[in-house]
Amino acid sequence: MQAIAVEQGRGRPAILEQERPDPAAGEVLVRTLRVGVDGTDHEVIAGNHGEFPEGETHLVLGHEAVGVVEDGGDTRFSAGDVVVPTVRRPPPGAENGYFERGESDMAPAGEYLERGIVGAHGYMAEYFVTDAAFLLEIPSSLADVGFLVEPLSIAVKAVELATSSRSSFTWHPESAAVVGNGSLGLLTLAYLKHVEGYDRLYCVGRRDRPDPTIDIIEALGATYVDSRETPVSDVPDAHEPIDFVFEATGYAKHAFEAIDALAPNGVGALLGVPEPWEFEVDGGRLHREMVLHNKALVGSVNSRMRHFEASTEALSAFPEWFVDRLVTGVYDVDDLAAAFDDDDTTIKTAVQFSEYEERR
Ligand code: NAP
Ligand code: BGC
Ligand code: ZN
Repeated sequence: MQAIAVEQGRGRPAILEQERPDPAAGEVLVRTLRVGVDGTDHEVIAGNHGEFPEGETHLVLGHEAVGVVEDGGDTRFSAGDVVVPTVRRPPPGAENGYFERGESDMAPAGEYLERGIVGAHGYMAEYFVTDAAFLLEIPSSLADVGFLVEPLSIAVKAVELATSSRSSFTWHPESAAVVGNGSLGLLTLAYLKHVEGYDRLYCVGRRDRPDPTIDIIEALGATYVDSRETPVSDVPDAHEPIDFVFEATGYAKHAFEAIDALAPNGVGALLGVPEPWEFEVDGGRLHREMVLHNKALVGSVNSRMRHFEASTEALSAFPEWFVDRLVTGVYDVDDLAAAFDDDDTTIKTAVQFSEYEERR
């Protein structure tokens, strides 16, 4: 079967021929339908994030998958079920309380592997196997867009983590700003509008019009903010103080600018994964600002099964036009260069390994 992998020192994905995997007891064999590509994949390909599996010199890419059960073995799954796998797996050997408690997204480095990212092969192959515990059945009506369940689950988890930091008082957030107009930013913007019910939404980018992401932002009823004209810290003066900021750029200055963008009692969730970068900030002023106005910043990574479930529900609540415009291309394996394009007309892409055929 064909798989898409990055080999050590290559810096770009390639097609490899591999044996189709055999499921062991408790495992499911899945025929892959589609696997999404996100900013993390580009960081892994560039060698800025992730790890090869121990003792290997290649990593099969892909962590945003949807597939169809080919062989459910001795598990609760049956052939034909449409399924989405989670990303984290326990490293072999040692006991792991985070996984035992179903809280693998909170595990520290060393206590997890991430399929397609950290030390474990991903889902960009015609078939993959996984322990049934890490597989979610989704409605077959979502077979074409199920590769969005994983990235949207990242937003679900981050919003939950940030919101729970405001649970000690009556917090009625009304304004939210997503910093970043990539695929994660736009999915989050749609989630804040259609599920969290925010009335006033902003999305920060650094693009000129005409631009397809700005069109989506405005079609969602949000205000586009150009960070070249209005730095994130000036959003309160230019627009209004923001109750909830969601950073999805990986541009480290935004983390600190978010503190100034926040309204008193506001919270910012940081999602981007920047490279080390030294720059000057007025630490004293920012520290004081956070304390005297009860502001919070939370980092958030990954997501767990319950976020995948909520994400599946949210995806069903999104208007069809949104997903149609977000997904700018679905490409066959042979066209992998297009799937990994990162130009300004590309928003969200996926690689298609096989087509979904309705169960009879
Ligand atoms: P992406 O598609 O590459 O999007 C990043 C977006 O940020 C791009 O639209 C980029 O704009 C914009 N941006 C960068 N610098 C900016 C600036 N100074 N001002 C305004 N906009 C700026 O990546 P993604 O998949 O959406 O992911 C976003 C980030 O989240 C990445 O760092 C990724 O690693 C991270 N991530 C984290 C998690 C987690 O669990 N924490 C999960 C998924 C992704 P241009 O295109 O115009 O340059
Ligand atoms: C993935 C997460 C993962 C994170 C850090 C993201 O793109 O969606 O599942 O935990 O990268 O590796
Ligand atoms: Zn991702």
